[in-house]
Amino acid sequence: MTSKAREGTDPPASLPKDIDETLNALQAQHYLADRRLATALFLALQLGKPLLLEGEPGTGKTEIAKVLAAWLGKRLIRLQCYDGMDLSQAAYEWDHARQLLEIRMAESTGRQGDMQVNDLYDPRFLLRRPLLQAIEAKDQAPILLIDELDRTDEAFEAYLLELLSDFQMSIPELGTISAKHPPLVILTSNRTRELHDAVKRRCLYQWVDFPDAQREAAIVARKVPGIPAALRTELVGLVQALRGLDLFKKPGVAETIDFAQALQVLAAQSLSIDLVMQSLGVLLKVQDDIALASEALPSLLAVQTP
Ligand SMILES: Nc1ncnc2c1ncn2[C@@H]1O[C@H](COP(=O)(O)OP(=O)(O)OP(=O)(O)O)[C@@H](O)[C@H]1O
Ligand SMILES: [Mg+2]
Repeated sequence: MTSKAREGTDPPASLPKDIDETLNALQAQHYLADRRLATALFLALQLGKPLLLEGEPGTGKTEIAKVLAAWLGKRLIRLQCYDGMDLSQAAYEWDHARQLLEIRMAESTGRQGDMQVNDLYDPRFLLRRPLLQAIEAKDQAPILLIDELDRTDEAFEAYLLELLSDFQMSIPELGTISAKHPPLVILTSNRTRELHDAVKRRCLYQWVDFPDAQREAAIVARKVPGIPAALRTELVGLVQALRGLDLFKKPGVAETIDFAQALQVLAAQSLSIDLVMQSLGVLLKVQDDIALASEALPSLLAVQTP
């Protein structure tokens, strides 16, 4: 199976043949995905479609684009979205200073009479930002990560539609630029607002949930290998139990890894109430959550170590 969008670009051998191969390749990069995420990724690669990942913070949405780039040996181009981001930061910008210099040079050499306005809107005066860099990739398809799209506004989402469906970009002064090697696009959102249906329709969609205890323990084993197995089970059990509380911000996998590293630095052998109480700030970052968790801690830890 070769993706239509990618026909004639990369050797198909660089793409996985099935879901198991996808799971194994991610695992080789120390990324432990569940089968649904691996299936979504496999299909996105094969169909040449953007993949939109929504989910809780710290559950590996951004990481998957980095892992994909390392696995497939492709360049990662990252667009970190933020409130107020505009096209000059995301797509392209005309280099006014160089255009002005060109006019001055023409004046000084007496060429200004021959100069056309179009001469100033030449690709060499274009400052390429991540979206244009991804479309213009010369040798092979890059990975384009559009991270935290929910931080931008709807106007920016509308601008993305052309790129997501046709892998092309319109620049009024130059015309349409089509990708020779369509990028593999990963979009992420923390769902602080609902994304537009038109964006979703152009993507495959996957919700990235917190891992179950077994997978989370396996992730910790990979990322913090020095932790004794019993302590690993204990700390993962605690994090999973904390997620069951009515917290404002539940700890993500990132926090679990931080917690494991903190316990290692503290040379902890097991979890005591005092130890966890003193290091709760590694897992929880909202004071109300810390207060709630501190209250629940004796019963949570009693369940962990009966
Ligand atoms: N399934 C996983 N396998 C291995 N590591 C993981 C997994 N999920 C998360 N991690 C680790 O957790 C950390 C956080 O991941 P990442 O930054 O991708 O989360 P995120 O979902 O993008 O979070 P945010 O929404 O806050 O940006 C990374 O260090 C990553 O290595
Ligand atoms: Mg992220």
